[in-house]
Amino acid sequence: MNKLSEAEKNGVYKAIFNRRDIRTFLQTPIPDETLYKLLEAAHSGPSVGFMQPWNFIIIKDDETKKKLAAIVEKERRALAIHYEGTDRELTFLDLKIAGILEAPVTICVTCNPFSAGDHVLGRNSIPETDLMSTSCAIQNMWLAAYAEGLAMGWVSFYKKADVRTILGIPYHVDPVALLSVGYTENYPDRPLLEIHNWEKRQRLDGLVFEGEWGERSK
Ligand SMILES: Cc1cc2nc3c(=O)[nH]c(=O)nc-3n(C[C@H](O)[C@H](O)[C@H](O)COP(=O)(O)O)c2cc1C
Repeated sequence: MNKLSEAEKNGVYKAIFNRRDIRTFLQTPIPDETLYKLLEAAHSGPSVGFMQPWNFIIIKDDETKKKLAAIVEKERRALAIHYEGTDRELTFLDLKIAGILEAPVTICVTCNPFSAGDHVLGRNSIPETDLMSTSCAIQNMWLAAYAEGLAMGWVSFYKKADVRTILGIPYHVDPVALLSVGYTENYPDRPLLEIHNWEKRQRLDGLVFEGEWGERSK
């Protein structure tokens, strides 16, 4: 087992605690080597039965970004209807939920449930483990972005069919995330949804049970 130095350990926790979801980007390009490091971090993630169900589509082209931004905006407007007439309506309309047009790069992370064939160790018991594995890869990439001084924003407001059409993704492959990546001048120290009074972090001790569901530690 590798032992981290105190400084290395602090670095890991710093990345975990300070990483943020970002939606405002500078247009400064990202060097290809740096982008590749993010992908390597993702590809080093754990996966059920080591199936590595992910693919990464790198999007830099403005036309494609415009198409993606348009379907995200369509979904945002559809969701806005749910908040019409409620006390959250104005807050929702104020929220920025994507920075696709600004960010120099969007990465579409996909999950192919059949990437390792019909029988994958572990996946046959819980099929969603392929998606869970892909999420682990994304979190790795998010932390690597933080380490590289980059910002990342996870965009999930879209219909999968729309993303498949725009990016030519086969119907059996799941577009799990659109990740906006770029440099930013605006890296908040708290989640944006907390800053905008939408939601706040729950207390950890209220989420922890001991021994069985609902039991608090004495
Ligand atoms: C699966 C997933 C989907 C998300 N989708 C969106 C999204 O579509 N738009 C958005 O603005 N943020 C999205 N987020 C970011 C969350 O809003 C954010 O992680 C949360 O508010 C906590 O903030 P933090 O990541 O800065 O700690 C998503 C996060 C996850 C994990």
